[in-house]
Amino acid sequence: MGPEKTEVSAALRAGYKRRVDSATAMAGDSWERTVFIETYGCQMNVSDSELIAGVLAARGYRSVESPELADVILLNTCAIREHAETRVAQRVRQLISARRRSDRRVRIGLAGCMAQHHRDRLLEVVPGLDFIVGPDAYRRLPDLLESESPVADVRLDRAEVYDDVAPARGRGVRAWLTIMRGCNRFCTFCIVPYVRGRERSLPAPVLIDEARRIAADGYKEIILLGQTVNAYRDADTDFGALLRMLAEVRGIERIRFTSPHPADMTESAIAAMRDCPQVCPYLHLPLQSGSDRMLQEMDRGHTVADYLDLVDRMRRAIPDLALSTDIIVGYPGETVADFEATSRIMASVGYDHAFLFKYSRREGTRAYRLEETVSEAEKTRRLERLIAEQGERAARINRSLVGQTTAVLVEAPAKRQPEWLSGKNPQFKTVVFAPTSARPGDIVDVEIESTSSHTLKGRQLGA
Ligand code: 5AD
Ligand code: SF4
Repeated sequence: MGPEKTEVSAALRAGYKRRVDSATAMAGDSWERTVFIETYGCQMNVSDSELIAGVLAARGYRSVESPELADVILLNTCAIREHAETRVAQRVRQLISARRRSDRRVRIGLAGCMAQHHRDRLLEVVPGLDFIVGPDAYRRLPDLLESESPVADVRLDRAEVYDDVAPARGRGVRAWLTIMRGCNRFCTFCIVPYVRGRERSLPAPVLIDEARRIAADGYKEIILLGQTVNAYRDADTDFGALLRMLAEVRGIERIRFTSPHPADMTESAIAAMRDCPQVCPYLHLPLQSGSDRMLQEMDRGHTVADYLDLVDRMRRAIPDLALSTDIIVGYPGETVADFEATSRIMASVGYDHAFLFKYSRREGTRAYRLEETVSEAEKTRRLERLIAEQGERAARINRSLVGQTTAVLVEAPAKRQPEWLSGKNPQFKTVVFAPTSARPGDIVDVEIESTSSHTLKGRQLGA
């Protein structure tokens, strides 16, 4: 989902504090080092950064808010598109060059998908980089940090699920919970299966325990994460069964998940979404293309008709369902007719939100050997068309909500209007409203008075 950079270190300090006592006890009072983590890419990486912070906190590392305060600087990276890697490459060089002015021994390293993707050459092409650590090697990170020379640990491990690691979660009303890792699908354009390895699920009892801890720590909402989250399976517990079990955890008011794969969306999962009021009526359902020929070329494992049928069944089961999607324009061989089909299907589904991407050729994927047939300028043109169409669509959908009342889980002051409060409704739309006595974590009814393509504005009822 949203390819945004998220700085988690500040937020992590809160979660870190819970465990700092035992960590210091273990490490001895005199030993303390600091770490700054900067996160790129998807929500899975945000969750992994919390995991990394947890691993390090248990060995006496304290999270800090800025690179200047850190003994260890770690960028948790993304490899999904070239742009994501370019940004990290620039940032890491900038950090390495800033370090020259410091008189401390600061270690700088890369974690995550880009580290794994370029494992064979990163240490060579980025002089001054101290370590690289892949997605399955985080528990060994403290040992890597003891090394005197540049080191890499990029071993993928089919069994690693970190089920015994306590993540240092950020503060807020929402907690991320990784329920499965890896991907077995190998869509032709995608680097994920190569850098995150094969699918594996966490044991259901571990997840239920963790959800209880999340509730006890005061979070109200859980977002379940996995590359193909609905492919979750632990013995007899499939994704639908897991949703039902988590819905019984007291104190968790809302459950969301991302990203499901259309071909893994079973009746069991749909029924659980329908039956459990805690499971939010919101689904991010990647389409990628509205052309059957492209879907087949991409090896997505379903047709447009399959997808539309799924949307139909889900809307019948969950009438107030909001939908978002991922779309790629300019995949090799995409004709104008294929592109127009995508535009048409997006209109006929009527997405509330869409993440729209230009195809980016990734070394190591099956599509890498395909010749690119859509020029950069044409990709941009197609992307901008869809952005404009989707913007109007979202604005129209949101306008139709004026006058309705929606339940908002209050989070924080509104970004653009800090004197207002903001939160999300069940459909994951941002709602802002004039201040009341509502506190973060409360769920309040807001009547929607005006809207844009991104935000709903209203007033809290009964306040
Ligand atoms: N180029 C462009 N977009 C991509 N995605 C994955 N791989 C690529 C690529 N090579 C998009 C897909 C996926 C989302 C997470 O990122 O739409 O669903
Ligand atoms: Fe990538 Fe396809 Fe796996 Fe999603 S399902 S992570 S797009 S290979």
